[in-house]
Amino acid sequence: MLERNIFKLSENVCWVGVRDWNRRIFDALIPLPKGTSYNAYLIIGSKGKALIDTVNPGFEKDLESNIRFIISPEEIDYVIMNHAEPDHAGAIPHIMSIAPKSKLVATARGAKMAQIYYHVPSDRIKIVVDNEVISLGDKSLQFIEAPMLHWPETMFTYLKEDGILFPCDFFGAHLAGGFYSDEIEDYIIHAQRYWGEIMMPFRSMAQRALEKISGLNIKIIAPSHGPIHRKPEIILDAYKRWAVGETRRKAVIAYVSMWGSTDMMVKQMAEVLMAEEIEVVIHNLTVSDIGDLVKDLVDSRAVVLGAPTVLGGAHPLSIYLSYLFRALRPPTKFAVILGSYGWGGGAIKQIQDMIKDIKIEVVSALEINGPPTEEDMRKICNIGRSLAKKIKEEN
Ligand code: FEO
Repeated sequence: MLERNIFKLSENVCWVGVRDWNRRIFDALIPLPKGTSYNAYLIIGSKGKALIDTVNPGFEKDLESNIRFIISPEEIDYVIMNHAEPDHAGAIPHIMSIAPKSKLVATARGAKMAQIYYHVPSDRIKIVVDNEVISLGDKSLQFIEAPMLHWPETMFTYLKEDGILFPCDFFGAHLAGGFYSDEIEDYIIHAQRYWGEIMMPFRSMAQRALEKISGLNIKIIAPSHGPIHRKPEIILDAYKRWAVGETRRKAVIAYVSMWGSTDMMVKQMAEVLMAEEIEVVIHNLTVSDIGDLVKDLVDSRAVVLGAPTVLGGAHPLSIYLSYLFRALRPPTKFAVILGSYGWGGGAIKQIQDMIKDIKIEVVSALEINGPPTEEDMRKICNIGRSLAKKIKEEN
């Protein structure tokens, strides 16, 4: 560990990022209960120096100050842009202005984005292709194209001599605190949540990237959000499971209720599923943290959507969830839809229409008028048992 807030990953490889303790929302969508960090890394080779990724706009001076603690920015030869999203690339204009001889290193798609977003002139961009290597003397950087993780231009950088992989967003977590992931007791929960929010829609691309890096001798994984992995096998194993869509005997119940009828229905469903030894997680959409819900969808085999009818259609919160469900593409195999209405139904059909073109088996859908009767509760018990049977039969 060096002084201040800079620490060494290995000889001449330093973290120079910043911690955003107070950030609470990302992409105006993802809640960040624990803030986040924008990790940037400085690599000092015998014949060249490289900065890997930068930081979110507003933190340019913090990054500059961290770099200046080690070298003068004028010495930087390469600014590696693994990903063009502003939380990692937003400080590129500032850094390239104080590092006048530096070239931006990016994929061909990244180069276009750097010109559009950050106005980097083309003569200051070096486009790299898959597996290309840049030598810094005693350190070499290998670039590995990893598209759609989670933008089209994304790539990883591998520092061969030290066995350090810099995968930007991949393998990250939205945590402002902590140095190493193995020191944080509930780290994997945060990583799962992050996977669900950011990487889950791109599972096949993730599988491809995991295969590509499987031959590398990785000793450290240094992502651009959250703690660093000095025991990389832990996060690699988790990513392999999530990427193939491994699910458990688990059901997520996500619902909204206006006057308590849908609430009664889903709670009856929860009792039946638990009696059948299915793990159940309930999220009331009026109070649940959406990131927490998404984390639960990562490995859940079934989902129960509870949606009442209001103003002639499904409650807007259940529409929002259905839309998110389609977009995030969790590996969930089975669905049940439950709902009630006061004087005119329609919610169930609307939700069914929204998810009809995704690969999920709707085991049953039940819409009732008013509070559930004993007969309705019996129907829910039967639906629950059918769902539990499906969950147990699936491996
Ligand atoms: Fe952390 Fe896709 O930016």
